[in-house]
Amino acid sequence: MNLSEKKILLGITGSIAAYKIPMLIRELKKQGADVKVICTHDALNFVTAPTLSTLSCNPVYSDFIKNVNGEWANHVDLALWADTILIAPATANTIAKLANGQSDNLLIAAAMSASCPIIVAPAMDHDMYIYPATQNNIAKLKSYGHYIINPEHGELASGIIGEGRLPEERTIINHIQQVLTTPKKFTGNTVLITAGPTQEAIDPVRYISNHSTGKMGISLAKEFAFHGAKVIFVHGPIFMQPNSVFGGLDIEAIETVDGEQMDKAVSKFFKSSDICIMAAAVADYKPNIVSIKKIKKGSDTAKLELVKTTDILYNLGKNKKKGQTLVGFALETDHEEKNAISKLQKKDLDMIVLNSLNNKGAGFKYNTNQVTMICKNGEKLKTPLKNKNEIALDILNQIYKIRL
Ligand code: CTP
Repeated sequence: MNLSEKKILLGITGSIAAYKIPMLIRELKKQGADVKVICTHDALNFVTAPTLSTLSCNPVYSDFIKNVNGEWANHVDLALWADTILIAPATANTIAKLANGQSDNLLIAAAMSASCPIIVAPAMDHDMYIYPATQNNIAKLKSYGHYIINPEHGELASGIIGEGRLPEERTIINHIQQVLTTPKKFTGNTVLITAGPTQEAIDPVRYISNHSTGKMGISLAKEFAFHGAKVIFVHGPIFMQPNSVFGGLDIEAIETVDGEQMDKAVSKFFKSSDICIMAAAVADYKPNIVSIKKIKKGSDTAKLELVKTTDILYNLGKNKKKGQTLVGFALETDHEEKNAISKLQKKDLDMIVLNSLNNKGAGFKYNTNQVTMICKNGEKLKTPLKNKNEIALDILNQIYKIRL
């Protein structure tokens, strides 16, 4: 297989291995690829722009401003042009910036604007590579859906022998071919995801709600979109503007306020969804009567009559069609597994994701979570405490497995 007509945006950063990149460009061009190069300033200490430009047959970009007239090198256009972005060699510094969204150069800005797959080939000294921050940043990039080409073991520029070498051209090209030809896990699937709390009005100024922030649902939406799904994201009131965190991903966000609105939106999209994940914390009860005027302070005690809301997930379970996968969440404080299993059965779910408020760092508000996934067939999978993006990837992989 060749790379005919594939558009590769190649990011080069300041590692000594940059000297190998002109040969890589030559090989990519031989295979028919169209190559554009973004070089960080440090990379230009190791390779020259005329060499890269001659071999790629395109201008080399390094700065946001192209020339003295102030013409702009548009990072968004570069990102949208590409079928894939390859960052090779990727220094520890570039990996850290990409992992943490620190967009202070053209390459990071382009990578953060991309909706195509991003392939990162770390190359550095062995000790820098195994340094915990570097490893954590690489894990973060993986959790964003980026592909990592592991560096090879061998003699490094420092003379040290260890992991850190940029792999040979052939290995890098194999990875690009694989990424560009392998269908993603959820390509062609529509995934309906709910997130956040609901707000049940008492009067025009007050409501009943809970502490859900929607973070877990946002991570799930991004992860499924990274893996090729079309995502419908139905959310209650959350502090983030979903579109500001979804970038160019294929995610349609639908805003709702109370359980009734969420129910309507979910029911509308459920029929055409292959997978539905109810991560929203829907209120179980709402005021029987919503006062149209602000309720004034009166006697020392006040009573509010509450009525049950619709159990959205229960209804979905009843209407589930063959081939649809239904996943619920359970937040428990006691008899966690027993309660979760009973919800799994009652709501006819394929899997339930159990959060326990007894686990420190898990549940509402935190950026981390620890869950136990319990499947219909009894299979149980407990994750350690980790970033919600990584938990989202675990959930995605488990859903992929149960749909095989
Ligand atoms: N859920 C729903 N509609 C509701 C309440 C809950 O769709 N009115 C969904 C949640 O999104 C979650 C699952 O049901 O995926 C379990 O929610 P949870 O609040 O843990 O359980 P409940 O069934 O509401 O039971 P309880 O609150 O008594 O634990």
